[in-house]
Amino acid sequence: MKIGIFDSGIGGLTVLKELLKYKNEYYYYGDNINIPYGTKTKHELQILASKIIEFLISKNVDMIIIACGTISSNIYEYLKNKYDIPIYDIISPTLNYLKDKSYYTFATPMTCRSKIFNNAIECPLLVPLIENGKNVTDALKEYLNKIPTNSNLVLGCTHYPILTHEILNIRPDLNLINMGKILGESLNLNSNKLKIRLYFSKVDINLLDNINKIIKYDYQLEELCLNCQK
Ligand code: DGL
Repeated sequence: MKIGIFDSGIGGLTVLKELLKYKNEYYYYGDNINIPYGTKTKHELQILASKIIEFLISKNVDMIIIACGTISSNIYEYLKNKYDIPIYDIISPTLNYLKDKSYYTFATPMTCRSKIFNNAIECPLLVPLIENGKNVTDALKEYLNKIPTNSNLVLGCTHYPILTHEILNIRPDLNLINMGKILGESLNLNSNKLKIRLYFSKVDINLLDNINKIIKYDYQLEELCLNCQK
């Protein structure tokens, strides 16, 4: 299967990482020049995501995965109605998994405001800090103080699984819920061929460092700015 997958930046790589267990051929787009998506308007998100989906369709993918909580929670219906290709969002399988469970959520401002998750806490500082390779400890501690002991904590933004070790160092009592893992299990798309093509709107050393921390397989990387002003 050829699978298109996208996010505002490196966050969706945490979803790709989970999907790689099943092999397949991936076309990943990370719009890192336009991060953060989490504070953009729905209209802005519609324009950005449409450009990316049309690019992925031009690569003849069989399906598209929205590896971004912000796009999934705000404009999934809009995108599904606009395009004929099968499109999967990152949040629905997790909501299904959570059904009767109680939980807290860390997410971007726009995801929290969509009200898709219960007990959602806005964490606006995390995505810019992660993308820029900066220290997240102080911000994390402040957000984690709001979570009661022994809670389920949904990582409602796909960037946050990058912080798994750091979160558990500060709060070993928490049960972290990774949306990419749950999506991978729900799709279960097994194949015997693995190929990874990554496209980012801005490529630099910091990005390479981030990618190599998450993806341990060979990949092709290209700089391609779909949402830049010409
Ligand atoms: N990974 C995106 C998400 O899941 C981050 C959005 C952003 O760029 O703020 O929401």
